[in-house]
Amino acid sequence: MKMKNIFLAFLFVSAFLFGQNQIINIHNRNTISLNGEWSIIIDPYENGYYNYRYEENPNGYFKNAKPKSKTDLIEYDFDTADKLIVPGDWNTQRDDLFFYEGTVWYKKSFDYKIQPGTRTFIHFGAVNYDAKVYVNGMKAGEHTGGFTPFNFEITGLIKDSDNFVVVKVDNKRIREGVPTVNTDWWNYGGITRDVNIITTPATFIEDYFIQLDPDTTGKVTGWIILNGDKTEQTVKIKIPETGINQDVETFGEGWGSFSFIADLELWSPGSPKLYDVIIETEDEIIIDKIGFRKIETEGTNVLLNGESIFLKGISIHEESPVNGGRAHSHEDAEALLNSAVKLGCNYVRLAHYPHNENMVRLADKMGILVWSEIPVYWTIKWENPDTYDLALQQLVDMIVRDKNRASVIIWSVANETPRSESRLNFLTNLIEHARSLDPTRLISAATELTYNGRTITIDDPLSFELDIIGANQYLGWYSNSIEQINEFTWETKFNKPLVISEFGAGALYGFHADEQTRWSEEYQDAVYREQLKMLSKVDFLRGMSPWILYDFRSPRRPLPKIQDFWNRKGLISNEGKLKKAFYTLQNFYNSIK
Ligand code: GCU
Repeated sequence: MKMKNIFLAFLFVSAFLFGQNQIINIHNRNTISLNGEWSIIIDPYENGYYNYRYEENPNGYFKNAKPKSKTDLIEYDFDTADKLIVPGDWNTQRDDLFFYEGTVWYKKSFDYKIQPGTRTFIHFGAVNYDAKVYVNGMKAGEHTGGFTPFNFEITGLIKDSDNFVVVKVDNKRIREGVPTVNTDWWNYGGITRDVNIITTPATFIEDYFIQLDPDTTGKVTGWIILNGDKTEQTVKIKIPETGINQDVETFGEGWGSFSFIADLELWSPGSPKLYDVIIETEDEIIIDKIGFRKIETEGTNVLLNGESIFLKGISIHEESPVNGGRAHSHEDAEALLNSAVKLGCNYVRLAHYPHNENMVRLADKMGILVWSEIPVYWTIKWENPDTYDLALQQLVDMIVRDKNRASVIIWSVANETPRSESRLNFLTNLIEHARSLDPTRLISAATELTYNGRTITIDDPLSFELDIIGANQYLGWYSNSIEQINEFTWETKFNKPLVISEFGAGALYGFHADEQTRWSEEYQDAVYREQLKMLSKVDFLRGMSPWILYDFRSPRRPLPKIQDFWNRKGLISNEGKLKKAFYTLQNFYNSIK
């Protein structure tokens, strides 16, 4: 599919979904950070939004009203309210919010100097789960979805000096949501990623895509989108290190496409080469660090830059080994990815939702391949059109944000979803959109398997739509004994690569016993040992991401003194201690060249 069609698909889907398109590469723009202390009001009955007749209140908390006289009645006050740190979940900042699911109001004052001929946006890296945003008491916009960025133009709402932003954050789980009400991870609520005010020229570079042409070796192709009135201008694409200096004419909606021959050092885990790519318009210069590589499959093989590669991976939840709670910072990303590298990984599965941008940008730098996923998890409401639109929006947001990240090689549209006609239609439509937006990556999903005696068959009809088949299995933990694991043989109905997206077992760090004793490190280690023996015999296996790097919090894991609301399948405990199975997997990966 030519880049022009890709762009047009992009424009259609983005505009259709949510009007305001996502602005990418935030941290290389003219920004003011709103990170830090925000005033908060805990509001379980949404009293700051609805009146006593459950009607929307036009004078809700978002007005940030103050008494005008000593007789005025106002029953809230952000200025004397408690504080929370942004970015960050509320669950781990206050014990009384650990299990809280509901609304918390956030308020931040900030100064601003309006510069003539500019535009102003407010950008959120993520808010879990539903966000209503007001600037100076006026609605800026709202967004649903806990793990993807969004921004609203506030040019007409912002003033010189003493501005304030109020956000109604509601993390209540809903059956029609994405994810739905049951997940095996903690429902961390809050403004969980960075918040920035962005100042742009009247016409600015909203979006761009630049990568090796998937059809022609040695060729770079891409497109840019300008937002504003000056949509017809000459834009320069520069890669100074290689002398590339390419003019691109934009037209119509501000769209411009390009392709040029370039002699580039390719990005790979062994050589994660990133180039400074400069995009220059009459009013703006944006710089990004981009790696150029090609990922493809050939039969049951996975090829990176034309060479076969085995994906030596591990699954990761977005939890901070540094401070606990929802990870968001560069330091969190370093702690997580350094542990994966120590394990011998060249690949990570960022489960079960798009992680913060620090993770994929650091993976670019470190040369770690990435599986990125939207939280279409378990029993989604497949027949609900609003649910589909939510899933599509999160898929588009994920691709828009990370399409220029060389490390990201796989977009995953689902995890362990039950087979049905409606589920197949829902996911097939998502896959078609993903392909139209980005033909340079592999599409996958973590599917489930069919067991017949000691034979495992890969036969999910969804796999007809996938480039690389993900499959979860827990032999030795949720089914069968450890001794039975290596008795299984595998067969597939597809001439496609298989990656085992999950296998694993739980262990409490420091609990030692024999290999038959559940929760001992020895039990977990024996499962890994037998799993690796079995999987080594599967000749169409091209990778794995065992479950999981670190213990992580889950409301589904209450077993006292063992789990205490932690899922214990980590190879590393939540205190950072390495369990026996860590070394078994590390030895296995180090034995693979
Ligand atoms: C499932 C699921 C994970 C879950 C894991 C477990 O496969 O994909 O989200 O945490 O199994 O049961 O620990």
